[in-house]
Amino acid sequence: MGKQRVLSGIQPTGDLHLGNYLGAIRNWVEIQQEFDSFLFMADLHAITVPQDPKLLADSTYKVAALYLACGIDLEHATIFVQSHVPAHSELAWLLMCITPLNWLEDMIQFKEKAVKQGENVGAGLLNYPVLQAADILLYEPDKVPVGEDQKQHLELTRDIAARLNYQFGSETQPILKLPEPMIRAAGARVMSLTDGTKKMSKSDPSDLSRISLLDPPEQIQHKIKRCKTDPVRGLQFDDAARPECHNLLSLYMIFSNQSKEAVAQECADMGWGQFKPLLTDTLITALKPIQEKYTQIRAEPGYLDAVLHDGKQKAEAIANFTLNKVKQALGFSIPT
Ligand code: TYM
Repeated sequence: MGKQRVLSGIQPTGDLHLGNYLGAIRNWVEIQQEFDSFLFMADLHAITVPQDPKLLADSTYKVAALYLACGIDLEHATIFVQSHVPAHSELAWLLMCITPLNWLEDMIQFKEKAVKQGENVGAGLLNYPVLQAADILLYEPDKVPVGEDQKQHLELTRDIAARLNYQFGSETQPILKLPEPMIRAAGARVMSLTDGTKKMSKSDPSDLSRISLLDPPEQIQHKIKRCKTDPVRGLQFDDAARPECHNLLSLYMIFSNQSKEAVAQECADMGWGQFKPLLTDTLITALKPIQEKYTQIRAEPGYLDAVLHDGKQKAEAIANFTLNKVKQALGFSIPT
């Protein structure tokens, strides 16, 4: 039997941060030997909120370079750009026609983003999860490794696939495979540095709320120095009244590769003045090799173009096969 397949993606909007790394990329790297991985840059998703056309292509390359710099290995993984594979948009349209409107109106991310955009909400923002369902279903993955915030979109993906199977397939011959989410406990929800009750996000207007993977050491130091804490002495996990404390300890635990018990013991009597430099040094040390590799990759002319060209070929072969299967089931004529 061949390897199982995983698929996941990140939007090339803003700089990737610790949440993107811990919720997604780090897990892709850890499981890549066991799976056949398809990883992409969701540039079609990016334009559901306004983007500067001068920056979109470069941001897409930046994310591809970060995947590689974080340790994605092309021996196990295919990296591609969503918009290079037109089957994503095409399947999204077909799925949109079978998705009830109220399923989309119930999506938490739609509601949150729609509030932020006020009157200017584009139809793309509402249909965003259908495009995500298409991204996933085209590759018939076994698992979709993501952070906690994507759980609802994955449930919707399964619902859309089940509806298509029910309407156009048969019980013995489903058309689309239902994927399983893969959400790891540690790092699945990294919180903002300025408010421990909000998730760390690329779209937060304050840069102080997140640490980006490419932040230089001085900036990491500055952000940790300024991050929100509390006046309590002694640091503990899991105190609901101290969300910032839990978040910062969790970051330290993950990046220093220690167990929760070891960190709880080490930090039990510390004050923030002692803990913050420890966390700062740990983050700087952990991000240094990623930043160095990133610089190397970006300096090599033509390398990313070649990676993405190859990725497009491999992705397209699978995506077009699934798209045709769906079109046939829906009754379209297929050109000879
Ligand atoms: P995006 O670009 O917002 O985030 C990319 C990945 O990072 C995870 N993530 C986090 N994990 C932990 N803590 C956080 N604070 C945090 N913030 C973000 C996300 O869960 C995600 O795994 N819609 C998707 C992109 C997408 C996609 C797909 C993902 C498009 N099509 C198909 C999987 C499969 C998104 O906006 O992710």
